Amino acid sequence: MSIAVIGGTGMNQWPGLDVQQHRVIETPYGAPSAPLLIGKVYGVQAVFLARHGEGHSLPPHAINYRANLWALRKAGVKSVVAIAAVGGIAPWFPPAAVAAPVDLIDYTWGRAHSYSDGSSAQLQHVEFGEPYSSRVRRELVHAALAARIDIVDGGVLGVTQGPRLESPAEIKRMKRDGCDMVGMTGMPEAGLARELALDYACLALSVNWAAGIGAGDIHAEIAQSIEQGMAKIRSILERALPVLDALDQ
Ligand code: HPA
Repeated sequence: MSIAVIGGTGMNQWPGLDVQQHRVIETPYGAPSAPLLIGKVYGVQAVFLARHGEGHSLPPHAINYRANLWALRKAGVKSVVAIAAVGGIAPWFPPAAVAAPVDLIDYTWGRAHSYSDGSSAQLQHVEFGEPYSSRVRRELVHAALAARIDIVDGGVLGVTQGPRLESPAEIKRMKRDGCDMVGMTGMPEAGLARELALDYACLALSVNWAAGIGAGDIHAEIAQSIEQGMAKIRSILERALPVLDALDQ
């Protein structure tokens, strides 16, 4: 087993996955958000994890990110594609657009964000100069281009605590900081993946304009753009997973 997809809002299930096994994994950090669904999709063996739980009930700050990533590694995963519905801040990131962000800023607080928590002998200061795997990013971008789907190769994801959406002034500050998009689950997920030496990248789908940027109602925008956007995500995965699988062998 080499590839995992972590599905977020809008991808709580993976209808294309022919599930062969529901694996309930216990970790030293507790239980993951959901059982790992292991099966065949697009001709490869893959694992799916519903980040917000099977009933989409776990809010971003209550997700057990440590257990999630630990369970994936325990299942033998090497590469992780994290799907994230986000708000667009940059003018080039309207609803239904897709990006493979290259960097991030962590605004979250109070989350169990590291395996180096003082309980084990090994203190690790992992490098984060390149928060996302360039190898996985490259394959996602190539797959999108091959499927004739526009994708932004880059962008900075700002990760907020949620579950409430941001205020306009918070988004203005994030824009000044250099954020191009805003989500609530990108951290500590990416940092923990790095601590476990998993090759992790994100496919970000803009589902609304961030607060104060668009004129419309955010929830209406999300409802409108999520289906169209997730169809693009599935097409990208269809091309990318066989390539990533071959690279991981
Ligand atoms: N802000 C934070 N997270 C989000 C948003 C947003 O506007 N849209 C989807 N996830």
